Amino acid sequence: MEDALRLLAELREVHCVETRPENCGIVIFGGSGDLANRKLLPSLYRLFCRGLMPEDFYVAGVLSYGDSPKNDDSFRESLRKLLAFGEGSCEEKLAAFTERCYYAPGDYRDPDLFWTLAGRLGGLDGAHKTGNRRFYYLAVPPALQEPIIAQMGETGLTMEAEDNSNWKRVVVEKPFGRDLESAIALSAKLQSYLLERQIYRIDHYLGKETVQNILMLRFANAIFEPVWNRNHVDHVQITAAEALGVEHRGSYYDDAGCLRDMFQNHMFQLLSLVAMEPPPHFRADRYRDEKVKLTQSIRPFPKEPALLRKQIVRGQYEAGEVEGERVRGYREEEGVAPDSETETYVAMKLLIDNWRWAGVPFYLRSGKRLKRKLSEIAVIFKPVPHSLFKEEDEGGLSPNVLVLGVQPKEGISLTIEAKRPGPKFCMGSLTLNFDYRSVFGEEPPEAYERLLLDVMLGDQTLFVRSDGIESAWSILTGLLDTWKASDAGTKECSLRTYPAGSGGPDAADVLLGRDGRVWRSF
Ligand code: BG6
Repeated sequence: MEDALRLLAELREVHCVETRPENCGIVIFGGSGDLANRKLLPSLYRLFCRGLMPEDFYVAGVLSYGDSPKNDDSFRESLRKLLAFGEGSCEEKLAAFTERCYYAPGDYRDPDLFWTLAGRLGGLDGAHKTGNRRFYYLAVPPALQEPIIAQMGETGLTMEAEDNSNWKRVVVEKPFGRDLESAIALSAKLQSYLLERQIYRIDHYLGKETVQNILMLRFANAIFEPVWNRNHVDHVQITAAEALGVEHRGSYYDDAGCLRDMFQNHMFQLLSLVAMEPPPHFRADRYRDEKVKLTQSIRPFPKEPALLRKQIVRGQYEAGEVEGERVRGYREEEGVAPDSETETYVAMKLLIDNWRWAGVPFYLRSGKRLKRKLSEIAVIFKPVPHSLFKEEDEGGLSPNVLVLGVQPKEGISLTIEAKRPGPKFCMGSLTLNFDYRSVFGEEPPEAYERLLLDVMLGDQTLFVRSDGIESAWSILTGLLDTWKASDAGTKECSLRTYPAGSGGPDAADVLLGRDGRVWRSF
Protein backbone atom coordinates (compact mmCIF):
# COMPACT_ATOMS: atom_id res chain seq x y z
CA MET A 1 0.00 0.00 0.00
CA GLU A 2 2.78 2.44 0.96
CA ASP A 3 4.68 1.69 -2.25
CA ALA A 4 1.58 2.23 -4.33
CA LEU A 5 0.92 5.55 -2.63
CA ARG A 6 4.52 6.66 -3.08
CA LEU A 7 4.32 5.84 -6.78
CA LEU A 8 1.12 7.78 -7.11
CA ALA A 9 2.64 10.77 -5.37
CA GLU A 10 5.53 10.65 -7.82
CA LEU A 11 3.45 10.18 -10.91
CA ARG A 12 0.59 12.55 -10.31
CA GLU A 13 0.97 16.10 -11.48
CA VAL A 14 1.51 18.28 -8.43
CA HIS A 15 -0.17 21.64 -8.26
CA CYS A 16 2.02 24.07 -6.38
CA VAL A 17 1.08 27.68 -6.07
CA GLU A 18 3.92 29.40 -4.27
CA THR A 19 4.62 33.06 -4.78
CA ARG A 20 7.69 34.90 -3.58
CA PRO A 21 6.74 37.88 -1.42
CA GLU A 22 7.78 41.43 -2.28
CA ASN A 23 10.66 42.99 -0.34
CA CYS A 24 9.83 43.83 3.26
CA GLY A 25 11.24 44.30 6.76
CA ILE A 26 10.50 41.90 9.61
CA VAL A 27 10.53 43.35 13.09
CA ILE A 28 10.39 40.89 15.98
CA PHE A 29 9.57 42.25 19.44
CA GLY A 30 11.07 39.66 21.78
CA GLY A 31 13.78 38.99 19.22
CA SER A 32 15.94 36.88 21.53
CA GLY A 33 13.11 35.17 23.39
CA ASP A 34 12.11 31.54 23.37
CA LEU A 35 9.60 31.77 20.49
CA ALA A 36 11.99 33.78 18.31
CA ASN A 37 14.85 31.35 18.91
CA ARG A 38 12.92 28.11 18.66
CA LYS A 39 10.46 28.93 15.89
CA LEU A 40 10.55 32.34 14.20
CA LEU A 41 14.21 32.80 13.28
CA PRO A 42 14.76 29.16 12.22
CA SER A 43 11.58 29.31 10.11
CA LEU A 44 12.63 32.53 8.36
CA TYR A 45 16.02 30.99 7.70
CA ARG A 46 14.51 27.81 6.25
CA LEU A 47 12.28 29.91 3.99
CA PHE A 48 15.44 31.71 2.89
CA CYS A 49 17.16 28.37 2.17
CA ARG A 50 14.19 27.31 0.06
CA GLY A 51 14.23 30.54 -1.93
CA LEU A 52 10.90 31.69 -0.53
CA MET A 53 12.02 34.89 1.21
CA PRO A 54 11.78 38.17 -0.68
CA GLU A 55 14.69 39.10 -2.92
CA ASP A 56 15.75 41.61 -0.28
CA PHE A 57 14.58 41.90 3.32
CA TYR A 58 15.82 42.55 6.83
CA VAL A 59 15.07 41.09 10.24
CA ALA A 60 15.25 43.48 13.18
CA GLY A 61 15.24 41.79 16.58
CA VAL A 62 13.86 44.22 19.16
CA LEU A 63 15.17 43.20 22.55
CA SER A 64 14.65 44.40 26.10
CA TYR A 65 17.62 46.15 27.66
CA GLY A 66 19.59 43.65 29.67
CA ASP A 67 18.95 40.79 27.25
CA SER A 68 22.00 39.57 25.47
CA PRO A 69 23.26 39.95 22.73
CA LYS A 70 24.42 43.55 22.84
CA ASN A 71 24.95 44.72 19.25
CA ASP A 72 24.44 43.69 15.60
CA ASP A 73 27.61 41.60 15.57
CA SER A 74 26.87 39.62 18.70
CA PHE A 75 23.23 39.21 17.59
CA ARG A 76 24.46 37.76 14.28
CA GLU A 77 26.96 35.55 16.06
CA SER A 78 24.23 34.14 18.31
CA LEU A 79 22.08 33.53 15.20
CA ARG A 80 24.90 31.70 13.44
CA LYS A 81 25.17 29.36 16.42
CA LEU A 82 21.42 28.93 16.59
CA LEU A 83 20.86 28.22 12.91
CA ALA A 84 24.00 26.46 11.69
CA PHE A 85 23.01 22.85 12.20
CA GLY A 86 19.24 23.05 12.29
CA GLU A 87 17.11 20.90 10.04
CA GLY A 88 16.77 22.28 6.52
CA SER A 89 19.71 24.63 6.97
CA CYS A 90 21.81 25.69 3.98
CA GLU A 91 25.26 26.49 5.28
CA GLU A 92 26.39 28.34 2.16
CA LYS A 93 23.60 30.87 2.66
CA LEU A 94 23.93 31.33 6.41
CA ALA A 95 26.14 34.42 6.21
CA ALA A 96 23.85 36.02 3.62
CA PHE A 97 20.91 35.50 6.00
CA THR A 98 22.56 36.75 9.18
CA GLU A 99 23.93 39.84 7.40
CA ARG A 100 20.33 40.92 7.00
CA CYS A 101 19.69 40.64 10.75
CA TYR A 102 19.91 43.66 13.05
CA TYR A 103 19.64 44.36 16.72
CA ALA A 104 17.53 47.10 18.35
CA PRO A 105 17.54 47.39 22.17
CA GLY A 106 15.05 49.27 24.33
CA ASP A 107 12.36 49.28 26.96
CA TYR A 108 9.03 48.23 25.45
CA ARG A 109 7.13 50.63 27.67
CA ASP A 110 9.32 53.62 26.83
CA PRO A 111 8.09 55.89 23.97
CA ASP A 112 11.74 56.73 23.17
CA LEU A 113 12.34 53.19 21.95
CA PHE A 114 9.65 53.62 19.31
CA TRP A 115 10.94 56.99 18.09
CA THR A 116 14.46 55.56 17.84
CA LEU A 117 13.07 52.49 16.14
CA ALA A 118 11.19 54.59 13.57
CA GLY A 119 14.47 56.21 12.52
CA ARG A 120 16.40 52.93 12.48
CA LEU A 121 13.77 51.04 10.49
CA GLY A 122 13.49 53.91 8.01
CA GLY A 123 17.24 53.52 7.34
CA LEU A 124 16.96 49.74 6.97
CA ASP A 125 13.98 50.13 4.62
CA GLY A 126 16.15 52.30 2.37
CA ALA A 127 19.15 49.97 2.52
CA HIS A 128 17.07 46.88 1.71
CA LYS A 129 14.69 48.56 -0.75
CA THR A 130 11.62 47.36 1.11
CA GLY A 131 9.34 50.16 -0.09
CA ASN A 132 8.65 50.73 3.64
CA ARG A 133 6.70 47.48 3.86
CA ARG A 134 7.06 45.81 7.24
CA PHE A 135 5.51 43.31 9.51
CA TYR A 136 5.86 43.39 13.26
CA TYR A 137 5.77 40.19 15.27
CA LEU A 138 4.75 40.52 18.92
CA ALA A 139 6.60 37.58 20.46
CA VAL A 140 6.20 39.08 23.94
CA PRO A 141 4.23 38.25 27.12
CA PRO A 142 0.51 39.18 26.90
CA ALA A 143 0.88 42.19 29.24
CA LEU A 144 3.18 43.87 26.72
CA GLN A 145 0.91 43.46 23.67
CA GLU A 146 -1.27 46.49 24.33
CA PRO A 147 1.51 48.96 25.27
CA ILE A 148 3.55 48.01 22.20
CA ILE A 149 0.59 48.39 19.86
CA ALA A 150 -0.30 51.75 21.38
CA GLN A 151 3.28 53.03 21.09
CA MET A 152 3.58 51.81 17.51
CA GLY A 153 0.33 53.58 16.69
CA GLU A 154 1.40 56.81 18.40
CA THR A 155 4.74 56.92 16.60
CA GLY A 156 3.23 56.18 13.18
CA LEU A 157 5.03 52.84 12.83
CA THR A 158 1.84 51.18 11.59
CA MET A 159 0.78 53.93 9.17
CA GLU A 160 0.11 52.97 5.57
CA ALA A 161 -0.31 55.06 2.44
CA GLU A 162 -3.80 55.12 1.00
CA ASP A 163 -2.90 52.67 -1.76
CA ASN A 164 -1.49 50.31 0.88
CA SER A 165 1.75 49.92 -1.13
CA ASN A 166 3.84 50.36 2.04
CA TRP A 167 1.78 47.86 4.01
CA LYS A 168 2.28 47.40 7.74
CA ARG A 169 1.07 44.17 9.36
CA VAL A 170 1.09 43.08 12.97
CA VAL A 171 1.24 39.45 14.07
CA VAL A 172 -0.27 38.85 17.50
CA GLU A 173 0.47 35.68 19.43
CA LYS A 174 -2.00 33.96 21.72
CA PRO A 175 -3.39 34.25 24.35
CA PHE A 176 -5.93 36.69 22.92
CA GLY A 177 -7.34 37.80 26.24
CA ARG A 178 -8.25 35.54 29.15
CA ASP A 179 -12.04 35.67 28.77
CA LEU A 180 -14.66 37.23 26.52
CA GLU A 181 -14.44 40.66 28.09
CA SER A 182 -10.66 40.99 27.90
CA ALA A 183 -10.61 39.58 24.35
CA ILE A 184 -13.11 42.24 23.24
CA ALA A 185 -11.01 44.91 24.97
CA LEU A 186 -7.81 43.69 23.25
CA SER A 187 -9.55 43.67 19.86
CA ALA A 188 -10.83 47.20 20.45
CA LYS A 189 -7.30 48.33 21.29
CA LEU A 190 -5.88 46.68 18.18
CA GLN A 191 -8.61 48.10 16.02
CA SER A 192 -8.12 51.61 17.33
CA TYR A 193 -4.67 51.63 15.67
CA LEU A 194 -5.01 49.02 12.93
CA LEU A 195 -7.46 47.88 10.30
CA GLU A 196 -8.59 44.26 10.56
CA ARG A 197 -6.66 43.51 7.37
CA GLN A 198 -3.45 44.53 9.15
CA ILE A 199 -3.99 42.16 12.10
CA TYR A 200 -2.70 38.57 11.91
CA ARG A 201 -3.78 36.58 14.99
CA ILE A 202 -1.68 33.50 14.84
CA ASP A 203 -2.65 29.99 15.89
CA HIS A 204 0.26 27.79 14.90
CA TYR A 205 -1.98 24.71 14.62
CA LEU A 206 -3.49 26.24 11.49
CA GLY A 207 -0.05 26.23 9.85
CA LYS A 208 0.54 22.54 10.50
CA GLU A 209 0.65 20.62 7.25
CA THR A 210 -1.70 17.92 8.49
CA VAL A 211 -4.22 20.45 9.79
CA GLN A 212 -4.32 22.20 6.41
CA ASN A 213 -4.84 18.78 4.88
CA ILE A 214 -8.17 18.36 6.72
CA LEU A 215 -9.78 20.78 4.30
CA MET A 216 -8.15 19.14 1.27
CA LEU A 217 -9.33 15.75 2.42
CA ARG A 218 -12.88 16.94 3.01
CA PHE A 219 -13.39 19.29 0.11
CA ALA A 220 -11.03 18.12 -2.63
CA ASN A 221 -12.38 14.55 -2.61
CA ALA A 222 -15.89 13.47 -3.45
CA ILE A 223 -16.07 10.38 -1.26
CA PHE A 224 -15.97 11.87 2.24
CA GLU A 225 -18.61 14.59 2.25
CA PRO A 226 -21.61 12.28 1.65
CA VAL A 227 -20.82 10.39 4.87
CA TRP A 228 -19.58 13.39 6.90
CA ASN A 229 -22.75 13.94 8.93
CA ARG A 230 -25.10 12.62 11.61
CA ASN A 231 -26.42 9.84 9.35
CA HIS A 232 -23.06 8.09 9.20
CA VAL A 233 -20.84 9.46 11.95
CA ASP A 234 -21.30 8.03 15.44
CA HIS A 235 -18.96 10.45 17.19
CA VAL A 236 -15.68 12.33 16.80
CA GLN A 237 -12.67 12.31 19.17
CA ILE A 238 -10.08 15.08 19.09
CA THR A 239 -6.94 14.51 21.15
CA ALA A 240 -3.94 16.75 21.80
CA ALA A 241 -1.84 14.91 24.36
CA GLU A 242 1.59 16.05 25.46
CA ALA A 243 4.31 14.22 27.37
CA LEU A 244 5.97 17.50 28.34
CA GLY A 245 5.04 19.40 31.46
CA VAL A 246 4.96 23.17 31.78
CA GLU A 247 8.74 23.43 31.30
CA HIS A 248 9.98 26.96 32.07
CA ARG A 249 6.53 28.53 31.61
CA GLY A 250 5.12 27.67 35.02
CA SER A 251 3.96 31.14 35.99
CA TYR A 252 2.27 31.84 32.63
CA TYR A 253 0.62 28.43 32.66
CA ASP A 254 -0.52 28.61 36.27
CA ASP A 255 -2.44 31.75 35.39
CA ALA A 256 -3.83 30.33 32.14
CA GLY A 257 -4.53 26.60 32.58
CA CYS A 258 -5.27 24.03 29.90
CA LEU A 259 -8.65 25.42 28.84
CA ARG A 260 -7.22 28.81 27.93
CA ASP A 261 -3.90 27.46 26.69
CA MET A 262 -5.20 24.76 24.33
CA PHE A 263 -8.99 24.82 23.92
CA GLN A 264 -9.81 28.44 23.19
CA ASN A 265 -7.46 28.24 20.23
CA HIS A 266 -5.95 24.98 18.94
CA MET A 267 -8.68 22.53 19.96
CA PHE A 268 -11.54 24.73 18.77
CA GLN A 269 -9.70 25.34 15.50
CA LEU A 270 -9.35 21.59 14.91
CA LEU A 271 -13.01 21.16 15.77
CA SER A 272 -14.13 23.87 13.37
CA LEU A 273 -12.06 22.50 10.48
CA VAL A 274 -13.44 19.02 10.90
CA ALA A 275 -17.05 20.12 11.36
CA MET A 276 -17.51 23.35 9.32
CA GLU A 277 -19.57 23.65 6.15
CA PRO A 278 -17.72 24.08 2.86
CA PRO A 279 -17.05 27.74 2.09
CA PRO A 280 -17.75 28.95 -1.48
CA HIS A 281 -14.02 29.34 -2.08
CA PHE A 282 -10.75 29.10 -0.17
CA ARG A 283 -10.27 32.78 0.49
CA ALA A 284 -9.85 34.36 3.87
CA ASP A 285 -13.20 35.86 4.66
CA ARG A 286 -15.66 33.26 3.37
CA TYR A 287 -13.56 30.50 4.91
CA ARG A 288 -13.40 32.28 8.26
CA ASP A 289 -17.16 32.97 8.11
CA GLU A 290 -17.78 29.22 8.04
CA LYS A 291 -15.46 28.57 10.97
CA VAL A 292 -17.19 31.22 13.04
CA LYS A 293 -20.62 29.83 12.13
CA LEU A 294 -19.50 26.45 13.38
CA THR A 295 -18.24 27.80 16.72
CA GLN A 296 -21.48 29.70 17.13
CA SER A 297 -23.37 26.42 16.70
CA ILE A 298 -21.67 24.76 19.69
CA ARG A 299 -24.29 24.19 22.36
CA PRO A 300 -23.44 26.31 25.45
CA PHE A 301 -22.35 24.39 28.53
CA PRO A 302 -24.93 23.97 31.31
CA LYS A 303 -24.66 26.51 34.10
CA GLU A 304 -25.51 24.06 36.89
CA PRO A 305 -22.30 22.45 38.19
CA ALA A 306 -24.10 19.12 38.69
CA LEU A 307 -24.89 18.97 34.96
CA LEU A 308 -21.62 20.48 33.84
CA ARG A 309 -19.55 17.77 35.53
CA LYS A 310 -21.23 15.20 33.28
CA GLN A 311 -19.86 17.02 30.27
CA ILE A 312 -16.41 18.10 31.32
CA VAL A 313 -13.53 16.82 33.44
CA ARG A 314 -10.54 18.82 34.58
CA GLY A 315 -7.40 17.34 36.03
CA GLN A 316 -3.94 18.15 37.32
CA TYR A 317 -0.88 15.93 37.10
CA GLU A 318 0.91 14.51 40.11
CA ALA A 319 4.45 13.12 40.19
CA GLY A 320 4.95 10.06 38.01
CA GLU A 321 7.02 8.55 35.27
CA VAL A 322 6.96 9.76 31.67
CA GLU A 323 8.78 7.86 28.95
CA GLY A 324 10.95 6.11 31.56
CA GLU A 325 11.83 9.25 33.48
CA ARG A 326 10.67 10.24 36.96
CA VAL A 327 9.01 13.67 36.87
CA ARG A 328 7.61 15.95 39.54
CA GLY A 329 3.99 16.89 40.03
CA TYR A 330 2.50 20.11 38.69
CA ARG A 331 2.42 21.82 42.10
CA GLU A 332 6.17 21.26 42.45
CA GLU A 333 6.96 22.92 39.10
CA GLU A 334 8.86 26.19 39.08
CA GLY A 335 6.58 29.23 39.03
CA VAL A 336 3.52 27.21 40.09
CA ALA A 337 1.70 27.89 43.38
CA PRO A 338 2.07 24.94 45.80
CA ASP A 339 -1.71 24.89 46.29
CA SER A 340 -2.53 25.62 42.65
CA GLU A 341 -5.98 24.62 41.42
CA THR A 342 -5.04 25.18 37.78
CA GLU A 343 -6.03 22.39 35.40
CA THR A 344 -3.37 20.72 33.26
CA TYR A 345 -5.91 18.40 31.60
CA VAL A 346 -9.40 18.87 30.20
CA ALA A 347 -11.77 16.40 28.57
CA MET A 348 -15.14 17.59 27.30
CA LYS A 349 -18.17 16.52 25.37
CA LEU A 350 -19.57 19.04 22.92
CA LEU A 351 -22.72 19.04 20.87
CA ILE A 352 -23.19 21.05 17.72
CA ASP A 353 -26.66 22.34 17.10
CA ASN A 354 -26.98 22.29 13.33
CA TRP A 355 -28.50 19.98 10.73
CA ARG A 356 -25.28 18.23 9.84
CA TRP A 357 -24.24 17.31 13.37
CA ALA A 358 -27.42 17.19 15.49
CA GLY A 359 -26.97 14.47 18.12
CA VAL A 360 -23.34 13.62 17.23
CA PRO A 361 -21.04 14.08 20.25
CA PHE A 362 -17.60 15.56 19.79
CA TYR A 363 -15.23 14.49 22.57
CA LEU A 364 -12.15 16.68 23.03
CA ARG A 365 -9.24 16.05 25.39
CA SER A 366 -5.90 17.67 25.94
CA GLY A 367 -3.37 17.56 28.73
CA LYS A 368 0.23 17.82 29.79
CA ARG A 369 2.44 15.07 31.18
CA LEU A 370 0.41 12.32 29.59
CA LYS A 371 1.75 9.01 28.34
CA ARG A 372 3.14 10.40 25.12
CA LYS A 373 2.71 13.15 22.55
CA LEU A 374 -0.14 12.56 20.17
CA SER A 375 -2.52 14.87 18.32
CA GLU A 376 -5.19 13.39 16.15
CA ILE A 377 -8.78 13.63 15.03
CA ALA A 378 -10.69 10.37 14.86
CA VAL A 379 -14.03 10.12 13.08
CA ILE A 380 -15.80 7.02 14.29
CA PHE A 381 -18.51 5.87 11.90
CA LYS A 382 -21.75 4.10 12.79
CA PRO A 383 -21.79 0.30 12.77
CA VAL A 384 -23.21 -1.52 9.76
CA PRO A 385 -27.02 -1.64 10.06
CA HIS A 386 -27.14 -5.45 9.72
CA SER A 387 -24.29 -7.97 9.80
CA LEU A 388 -24.24 -10.92 7.40
CA PHE A 389 -21.30 -12.35 9.28
CA LYS A 390 -22.75 -13.00 12.71
CA GLU A 391 -21.36 -16.52 12.93
CA GLU A 392 -17.90 -15.65 11.67
CA ASP A 393 -17.57 -12.59 13.75
CA GLU A 394 -17.85 -13.43 17.41
CA GLY A 395 -16.83 -10.09 18.85
CA GLY A 396 -19.05 -8.01 16.55
CA LEU A 397 -17.84 -5.92 13.62
CA SER A 398 -15.71 -2.93 14.53
CA PRO A 399 -16.86 0.40 13.15
CA ASN A 400 -14.82 2.17 10.47
CA VAL A 401 -12.55 4.80 11.92
CA LEU A 402 -10.91 7.55 9.91
CA VAL A 403 -7.94 9.03 11.76
CA LEU A 404 -6.33 12.30 10.75
CA GLY A 405 -2.94 12.17 12.44
CA VAL A 406 -1.67 15.65 13.24
CA GLN A 407 1.55 14.70 15.07
CA PRO A 408 3.92 13.02 15.62
CA LYS A 409 2.61 10.46 13.13
CA GLU A 410 1.44 12.75 10.37
CA GLY A 411 -0.91 11.00 8.01
CA ILE A 412 -4.33 9.52 7.47
CA SER A 413 -5.57 6.05 8.26
CA LEU A 414 -8.83 4.24 7.74
CA THR A 415 -9.74 1.02 9.50
CA ILE A 416 -11.94 -1.36 7.60
CA GLU A 417 -13.25 -4.84 8.26
CA ALA A 418 -11.85 -7.41 5.86
CA LYS A 419 -11.33 -11.09 5.34
CA ARG A 420 -7.96 -12.34 6.45
CA PRO A 421 -6.01 -14.29 3.81
CA GLY A 422 -6.36 -18.09 3.83
CA PRO A 423 -8.89 -20.85 3.22
CA LYS A 424 -10.67 -20.22 6.52
CA PHE A 425 -13.24 -17.46 6.73
CA CYS A 426 -11.59 -15.18 9.30
CA MET A 427 -12.45 -11.53 9.67
CA GLY A 428 -10.54 -8.70 11.24
CA SER A 429 -9.83 -4.99 11.13
CA LEU A 430 -7.24 -3.73 8.67
CA THR A 431 -5.77 -0.28 8.51
CA LEU A 432 -5.17 1.57 5.25
CA ASN A 433 -2.35 3.90 6.03
CA PHE A 434 -1.02 7.06 4.45
CA ASP A 435 2.11 8.09 6.28
CA TYR A 436 3.40 11.54 5.37
CA ARG A 437 7.09 10.74 5.80
CA SER A 438 7.15 7.50 3.87
CA VAL A 439 5.17 8.94 0.96
CA PHE A 440 6.92 12.29 0.66
CA GLY A 441 10.26 11.13 2.05
CA GLU A 442 10.64 14.15 4.31
CA GLU A 443 9.41 15.75 7.51
CA PRO A 444 6.41 18.07 7.14
CA PRO A 445 7.54 21.71 7.23
CA GLU A 446 7.36 23.68 10.46
CA ALA A 447 3.97 25.41 10.87
CA TYR A 448 5.56 28.82 11.34
CA GLU A 449 7.17 28.69 7.88
CA ARG A 450 3.78 28.61 6.18
CA LEU A 451 2.34 31.27 8.48
CA LEU A 452 5.26 33.71 8.21
CA LEU A 453 5.18 33.36 4.45
CA ASP A 454 1.45 34.08 4.44
CA VAL A 455 1.97 37.25 6.48
CA MET A 456 4.45 38.50 3.87
CA LEU A 457 2.04 37.55 1.10
CA GLY A 458 -0.86 39.27 2.83
CA ASP A 459 -2.95 36.10 3.03
CA GLN A 460 -5.08 36.00 6.19
CA THR A 461 -6.79 32.70 5.46
CA LEU A 462 -4.88 30.77 8.13
CA PHE A 463 -5.19 33.51 10.76
CA VAL A 464 -8.03 34.04 13.18
CA ARG A 465 -10.47 36.92 12.88
CA SER A 466 -11.71 38.81 15.93
CA ASP A 467 -15.20 37.25 15.73
CA GLY A 468 -13.53 33.81 15.69
CA ILE A 469 -11.74 34.60 18.92
CA GLU A 470 -14.86 36.02 20.51
CA SER A 471 -17.16 33.16 19.54
CA ALA A 472 -14.73 30.68 21.16
CA TRP A 473 -14.50 32.81 24.29
CA SER A 474 -18.25 33.16 24.57
CA ILE A 475 -18.54 29.36 24.91
CA LEU A 476 -15.62 29.01 27.32
CA THR A 477 -16.17 32.06 29.50
CA GLY A 478 -19.48 30.63 30.75
CA LEU A 479 -17.67 27.44 31.62
CA LEU A 480 -14.88 29.24 33.48
CA ASP A 481 -17.52 31.17 35.45
CA THR A 482 -19.31 27.98 36.47
CA TRP A 483 -16.01 26.41 37.53
CA LYS A 484 -15.25 29.46 39.62
CA ALA A 485 -18.66 29.42 41.26
CA SER A 486 -18.32 25.71 41.93
CA ASP A 487 -14.85 26.18 43.49
CA ALA A 488 -16.28 28.79 45.80
CA GLY A 489 -19.35 26.77 46.68
CA THR A 490 -20.38 23.21 45.94
CA LYS A 491 -17.08 21.93 44.46
CA GLU A 492 -19.24 19.81 42.12
CA CYS A 493 -16.71 20.24 39.32
CA SER A 494 -13.64 19.66 41.44
CA LEU A 495 -10.21 19.11 40.02
CA ARG A 496 -9.18 15.45 39.54
CA THR A 497 -5.60 14.31 39.76
CA TYR A 498 -3.73 11.93 37.46
CA PRO A 499 -0.22 10.51 37.69
CA ALA A 500 2.23 11.96 35.19
CA GLY A 501 2.73 9.43 32.41
CA SER A 502 -0.85 8.11 32.56
CA GLY A 503 -3.70 8.59 30.09
CA GLY A 504 -5.37 11.27 32.25
CA PRO A 505 -7.90 11.18 35.10
CA ASP A 506 -10.20 8.15 35.37
CA ALA A 507 -13.16 10.51 35.35
CA ALA A 508 -12.45 11.18 31.65
CA ASP A 509 -13.14 7.51 30.93
CA VAL A 510 -16.35 7.71 32.92
CA LEU A 511 -17.38 10.71 30.78
CA LEU A 512 -17.38 8.55 27.65
CA GLY A 513 -18.46 5.42 29.48
CA ARG A 514 -21.73 7.15 30.36
CA ASP A 515 -22.45 7.30 26.62
CA GLY A 516 -21.34 3.69 26.09
CA ARG A 517 -18.13 4.76 24.35
CA VAL A 518 -14.39 4.57 25.05
CA TRP A 519 -11.46 6.84 24.24
CA ARG A 520 -9.04 5.65 21.62
CA SER A 521 -5.93 4.44 23.35
CA PHE A 522 -2.68 6.31 22.82
C1 BG6 B 1 1.08 26.17 22.66
C2 BG6 B 1 0.75 26.02 24.12
O1 BG6 B 1 0.21 27.08 22.05
O2 BG6 B 1 0.95 24.91 22.03
C3 BG6 B 1 1.68 25.02 24.77
O3 BG6 B 1 0.89 27.28 24.76
C4 BG6 B 1 1.61 23.70 24.03
O4 BG6 B 1 1.36 24.82 26.13
C5 BG6 B 1 1.82 23.92 22.54
O5 BG6 B 1 2.62 22.87 24.54
C6 BG6 B 1 1.58 22.64 21.77
O6 BG6 B 1 2.00 22.84 20.45
P1 BG6 B 1 2.52 21.63 19.57
O7 BG6 B 1 2.76 22.21 18.24
O8 BG6 B 1 3.74 21.11 20.24
O9 BG6 B 1 1.39 20.63 19.62
